Amino acid sequence: MTTGAVLTAAGSGSRLAAGIPKALVLLDGAALVLHAARRLRLAGVVEIVVSAPADHSASVLDLLSADSVLREARITVVEGGASRQASVAAALAALPAAVDVVLVHDAARALAPVSLIQRVEAAVRSGHDAVVPGLPVTDTVKRVAAANADGAELVRATPDRSTLRAVQTPQGFARDLLDRAHAAGAERAASEASAATDDAALVEALDRPVWVVQGDVAALKITTAQDLLVAELMLREEAR
Ligand code: C5P
Repeated sequence: MTTGAVLTAAGSGSRLAAGIPKALVLLDGAALVLHAARRLRLAGVVEIVVSAPADHSASVLDLLSADSVLREARITVVEGGASRQASVAAALAALPAAVDVVLVHDAARALAPVSLIQRVEAAVRSGHDAVVPGLPVTDTVKRVAAANADGAELVRATPDRSTLRAVQTPQGFARDLLDRAHAAGAERAASEASAATDDAALVEALDRPVWVVQGDVAALKITTAQDLLVAELMLREEAR
């Protein structure tokens, strides 16, 4: 039984406007991808495949290989693809055959706690073949139609908030199920417009059950400069 991780880090991070890929943006002196990889290792994961932007693959490998927390991890870096789904597929193909449980994690969720990573892995090991961490939604969410000429959007529906969960990563899967889900949805990966926005959606497309376990606010997705400030505060809080 070996748990492996796919760590996506190939996004451009244009919304962060840092001029470098988001995964390489520093948080308390360490790149987001390094924070995420360290936490996977501290949760007990040894096999980690990272998908990185083509022109940063070597620097990501250097960065992770030099880190003392990752000393006993086996790190592989592959080139990411045109969508997050493609980047996951590329990394999945590079995981050793011995890996039977896969955690798919985003470097953008750099502060996902060790306890969350272990909770997801434990749920998969206990027999749930597809597991996502999720939190109750506090906003009221509207489904809308395409925007009008003046930019206004018509509200179509208000889903019952109590049935909604905002899902995070890492998402955990039995390896064979995740392989099958990616193979079945492969043609969607060509562009972000058609790609699945998470891996669980590919499993759902196979009509296989996906289970939600308790998420964690610390696993916030760092997308904007404001998120980075929040992450800095969280890290400071964690160190106290
Ligand atoms: O862009 P967004 O924040 O939604 O990306 C989520 C995660 O997917 C990030 O960790 C990003 O690096 C990764 N990604 C990727 N390959 C892409 C697009 C995004 O690995 N083509």
